[in-house]
Amino acid sequence: MTTAATPVHSPLAVLKGLASLRRLSGTYPAGHPIIGQRLQELSDTIAELLSAGSPLCVEVIQGNVLLEGVATSAETQADEQLLSQLAALGIDSIHIREGVERQELLTLAEFLWHHTDSDESVTAQLLARSVRHVSLGRLVPLDTRWRVQQWPDAPTGQLDPDYAESLARAQQTWEDTVAGKPLDVVSVRELVQLLIHKVAKSNAALGQILAVKNYENLTYCHSVNVSILSLLLGKRVGLDEATMAVLVEAALLHDVGKTRIPLEIIQKPGLLDKNERRTIESHTTLGAEILVQTEGLHPLTPTVALEHHRGVKGIGYPDLGNAVPHPMSQIVSVADIYEALTGARCYQHPTPPERACLILARMAGDKLNTGLVKTFVNAITFFPLGSFVRTDRNEFGLVIQTTLGEPLHPVLALVDGDTHEFLGQVDTAERGLSGSYTRHISQTLQVPDTLDVRRLLDAQQAAAL
Ligand SMILES: [Fe+2]
Repeated sequence: MTTAATPVHSPLAVLKGLASLRRLSGTYPAGHPIIGQRLQELSDTIAELLSAGSPLCVEVIQGNVLLEGVATSAETQADEQLLSQLAALGIDSIHIREGVERQELLTLAEFLWHHTDSDESVTAQLLARSVRHVSLGRLVPLDTRWRVQQWPDAPTGQLDPDYAESLARAQQTWEDTVAGKPLDVVSVRELVQLLIHKVAKSNAALGQILAVKNYENLTYCHSVNVSILSLLLGKRVGLDEATMAVLVEAALLHDVGKTRIPLEIIQKPGLLDKNERRTIESHTTLGAEILVQTEGLHPLTPTVALEHHRGVKGIGYPDLGNAVPHPMSQIVSVADIYEALTGARCYQHPTPPERACLILARMAGDKLNTGLVKTFVNAITFFPLGSFVRTDRNEFGLVIQTTLGEPLHPVLALVDGDTHEFLGQVDTAERGLSGSYTRHISQTLQVPDTLDVRRLLDAQQAAAL
């Protein structure tokens, strides 16, 4: 008789197996049959998941277990104890590659049991123990300089001039703050106006912000992008222009506390110990302190910095009891998580927008405001402006327009798969005589370097005027 159990294909089965093996290896003497049994079960589960051909990537993002960036079914939700156990170990990313052997899994489990903080990187420690097919880590938060080494193949295509100017201004503000200078409120205000009146109205700029970004991972870029995303969401929920300016100011400065966190902690690719995690989490309170002391900012700006890592049900940090975050903070949280997911991260390429939308949907309710997530996904759509996609007819196209109420069916500029020559425009929301869509989008792809995204988006915007 079969009993209801976690399905074999669940990433949770891997986490559970690993946690259980870790506990057993710390409790029973080496060679005890129960260890062998658990090891076999875990090894079988992993073999099955790896048989699909690609490496197994399990992540825990804000308490949700994800396999290859996709949140899995409801039954895999929450084994709070297990997740907090992994969180206590500082693990939120486990990559297992083809060829992993039982001995490596056992060594890994023992390593996790005995793990204490060390100057040596986790990767080096695992390699020294002959664990070559597993990497552990945390999702490296967005920050400075690190990206340059991480993504040397960054596309060199030109940025929209207004977007480029916003980034340059944000960079200046950021660097001044890192150097200990007081925040230049006038310059922040000018940047807010630039974002509202120019960047948010340029399709080319939005294309560079909304679609997968594998080229910038610096905190000031993240802040500019979060501001634009917050702006788009704010517009959809009907905020007036004055409130929008407050929202953009708060979004721009939400992570300013990171200027006070030592770079070596922010950039550390391995596991963080409790103190380091607490230090990183303190960017919320540090940010609020900096902003409260800055004259001329809106009173909500420090509130958003303080609350942007708190869920709508009061979980997250800092601990403020059951206080529900201000709606402004809730908007910035949605934009922040989407931006962090679609930006470049340690170990892997960015999560494509359609997956990021699914992850947001999964976080709706406990962590994020459900209404805001729905509005956001409808506004951003699964295939935002500037995404390069393949259709189920094996056509390649750039998303040049999105349609309200059709988050899965944008308008495409079709291009030749090899030469990228423009072939014509097609609306994937069109339906055939039977009433069904004539095309579906099957995949988001990396934007080819040779594709002139700006020209295609500018041409579409000009034609629409
Ligand atoms: Fe943050």
